[in-house]
Amino acid sequence: MSGPLAREAKKSPLIAPSILAADFARLAEETAAVEGADWLHVDVMDNHFVPNLTLGLPVVESLLKATDIPMDCHLMIENPERWAPPYAEAGAYNVTIHAEATDNPVAVARDIRAAGAKAGLSVKPGTPLEPYLQILREFDTLLVMSVEPGFGGQKFIAEVLPKVGIARRLVDAGELTIVIEIDGGINADTIEAAAEAGVDCFVAGSAVYSAQDPAAAVHSLRKQAASASKHLTL
Ligand code: DX5
Ligand code: ZN
Repeated sequence: MSGPLAREAKKSPLIAPSILAADFARLAEETAAVEGADWLHVDVMDNHFVPNLTLGLPVVESLLKATDIPMDCHLMIENPERWAPPYAEAGAYNVTIHAEATDNPVAVARDIRAAGAKAGLSVKPGTPLEPYLQILREFDTLLVMSVEPGFGGQKFIAEVLPKVGIARRLVDAGELTIVIEIDGGINADTIEAAAEAGVDCFVAGSAVYSAQDPAAAVHSLRKQAASASKHLTL
């Protein structure tokens, strides 16, 4: 093998179960049910940025006490300037904001990082990546939405995969250091296309929590992603 991939050791696929598909009355148990997951994806919705309302900081604080799985907070909210840093202060591993929700994503990323978490930038399916390429170095993760944010259980939009390809090429060329994450409609039928396009971290809600054994579903999605990917291996 030649090129940048030859220089870098291959990474493992990361699987991040989304608790949006879990039973909210039993969140601690539902988190324990995905033991072995790499990140726990927590969807925070404010009923303004998206037409749905889920949970906020008090629930995240309680959940942080209930699990050791690194928490990946996906903030689908307006005014992330005000609301994102407290998730980092509380101990979230990664805090992702939406590019469409703020005029100053870099300032928010710096505040998140200063508060001790990794900072993520998310783009909706219709949002191009090009205007944000210059600022991606201020972020640790890029969350490419493969459904319209707001609800679990939607159909995967494959047309977003070229955005993954753009980011993958920049990472492989050594121009960016970022974890490429995809969110929405990821399951056994779609994960291979996402892995081939260059995704590092796969969020899966219904595919994990509708399975009889959620931990086994995590394991099997990880295996599938590794076998379909050129840059990931188990
Ligand atoms: C949607 C959320 C997703 C959702 C994914 O707005 O950001 O994280 O939980 O659910 P599935 O995997 O069911 O599409
Ligand atoms: Zn999400």
